[in-house]
Amino acid sequence: MLNIALPKGRLGEKVYALFAKAGYPCPEILSASRKLIFENPEKGVRYFQVKPSDVGIYVERGAADIGVVGRDVLMESEPAVYELLDLGLGKCRMAVAAPEHFRDDASKTLRVATKFPRVAQRYYASLGRDIDIIQLNGSIEIAPILGLSDVIVDIVETGTTLRENHLTAREEVFPISARLIANRSAYQFKKDEITRLTEALAGEAAV
Ligand code: PRP
Repeated sequence: MLNIALPKGRLGEKVYALFAKAGYPCPEILSASRKLIFENPEKGVRYFQVKPSDVGIYVERGAADIGVVGRDVLMESEPAVYELLDLGLGKCRMAVAAPEHFRDDASKTLRVATKFPRVAQRYYASLGRDIDIIQLNGSIEIAPILGLSDVIVDIVETGTTLRENHLTAREEVFPISARLIANRSAYQFKKDEITRLTEALAGEAAV
């Protein structure tokens, strides 16, 4: 049996649809219940639905053999896992954004609001820029509007949230999409099952 950690929510639904198309269905997962674990013994899969930011922990510690997680989460938490495949789903980007009128003064410490402190820290370190990180858990776009920060480092998908809050994207930090990851020892012990599943997904993936 392969234990698979899927991210809860919108991305999870798309990811499950891809697994089903690749020959690993488990229709019960679509029922509107509060259940979090679903099995299809015939296909040898057990799905768990967990918070997107927790997928890496389940896989790194072996509670899940494989999982699907956004590149944003991988870059922030850097779990010790193998990255097997770009699924081409959940495409968006990590970007620096600021109010339309903001002009950067490179001689001043830049105040950066973000849910991704390590990503932001690394990005500005690579530019040699001094920053002050303001770590928030959501609605990041509000921070520069209220003067809590100068800029934000956040995910931009359609750009609607930025537009509606009079912010503009200034720099792209990296592109994001969903990645298939594997626990390092499961990848040795369950190599055949994991390889079969990876190949089936690669055949259906939108990359
Ligand atoms: C994410 C992200 C942006 C928004 C971008 O927030 O942090 O706020 O989506 O999407 P858009 O470019 O299509 O508008 P999320 O919905 O996860 O909520 P959050 O505010 O709790 O982070």
